[in-house]
Amino acid sequence: MKKATSVLLAVILMASCLVPAGAVSAWDVYWADSKEAARGIIMQPGEDETQRNFSWYMDADVTSCHVEISDNPQMANAEIISGEIIDAYRGDKVAKVTVSELELGETYYYTCVSGDEKSAVYTFETVEADSFSALYLSDIHISGDSRDAVKDTAFMFADLLNDATARADVNLILSAGDQASDGLRCEYEGLTFSPLSRSLSFATTIGNHDRKGVDYRYFTNLPNEDKIVISSYQGGNYYFVKGEVLFLCLDSNNASGTDHYRFVKNAVKENPDCKWRVVMMHHDLYGGTIESRESENRLLRLLYSPIMDEFNIDLALLGHSHHYSVSDVVYNGKSVAELANGGTVENAQGTVYMVSASVSRPRDEEGEIPYSDLIAIGMDEHTDRLYNIIDFSSDAITVTTYEVGSDEVHANFTLTKTEDFDAPSFSFFRKLFAKLVNFIGTIYAVFNNIGVFSDLKEDGFDVPFIEVVF
Ligand SMILES: [Fe+2]
Ligand SMILES: [Fe+2]
Repeated sequence: MKKATSVLLAVILMASCLVPAGAVSAWDVYWADSKEAARGIIMQPGEDETQRNFSWYMDADVTSCHVEISDNPQMANAEIISGEIIDAYRGDKVAKVTVSELELGETYYYTCVSGDEKSAVYTFETVEADSFSALYLSDIHISGDSRDAVKDTAFMFADLLNDATARADVNLILSAGDQASDGLRCEYEGLTFSPLSRSLSFATTIGNHDRKGVDYRYFTNLPNEDKIVISSYQGGNYYFVKGEVLFLCLDSNNASGTDHYRFVKNAVKENPDCKWRVVMMHHDLYGGTIESRESENRLLRLLYSPIMDEFNIDLALLGHSHHYSVSDVVYNGKSVAELANGGTVENAQGTVYMVSASVSRPRDEEGEIPYSDLIAIGMDEHTDRLYNIIDFSSDAITVTTYEVGSDEVHANFTLTKTEDFDAPSFSFFRKLFAKLVNFIGTIYAVFNNIGVFSDLKEDGFDVPFIEVVF
């Protein structure tokens, strides 16, 4: 993958040589020339490694869409896979295509076709074995209300992708929410304008900022999505399998514990052979350092921690606080195994809660309150822009955190699992309390969504009540 994408990046760099030095950057040239920069093409995980989901914006008069996919860059003998066209409320449309029956350990080339318009050819790889590497980050915050205004943060993210892919053979992006600051189409275009973002499986999770607009729903094409939810209009929970890992992506804007419990239970039941379970969601649980958010964090811990415990979630990848933190292995709200920077934790039954710092909006002040005692690794310099390479294998997960543009390793740790954990058993009263909390969360979610519905109406979106609230 790196070889093929480096060809594209070389083209971008050559293009920049055609303009006077210092006038514009390579990204500026690509931004101006590339049709794709305004199409928001995203390739997301499919249900498993044999699938990929594609989505992109199209003009209102386009009546067909498909992906052409081939095993060679000349696109000889390309297979054509048709997709679905969805109206996106403002007259524009989105294409959604799922490519299936991919072979493992292969390199593919694809182009996205809207009517007569073809995108450039992009490439991606499927992983063969259970070992693969992912780039985990959060709070990318592409920001701006116009195509020009989003350039700064879009280029910042593009630079990070260059940095991370030069360091590791990454196959998957895990983005824990707040991809955009106002949920606008131009922000999602900025998010996906680097060719690298179209060569990696880009798994997103909805953040509170993505929920401010209506575009997250159109921009994404999510596998195994939970449609029957008391959730936000923007999309529900979804899961996918890669190697031996079950990735459970939760919409933590949705306070319905009933939804989340049912979704995780079903996904775990459907995938009994996955050795590792990773939750990705936006809101932080244990690593927050802002006093005014602590009451919200306490409520979120009541909702989510019992689910993490009951379903043996190994790693929770979070965001929202913009403060990097890694917890000990936590079970029932207590540390059950200490984690240390550079260390390995073997066969500990519980969850490590991790928050990645923001890609473009590092908090430039120290936290108002100290990290909780459960946090094992924190952040010294609060202006650092950090990202994480996670190496998954059958018996280990290793997380290494880097600062953008620096060779220094900020932190690393390994979790190993060489034996299966028993399903935990809880007392009658603990189960009853969890059910009660989930139910109260569900009632809250309904009222919260009525507020979302009226806000959308006020903003001029003709959205149906039933879709927003239920
Ligand atoms: Fe954020
Ligand atoms: Fe957030």
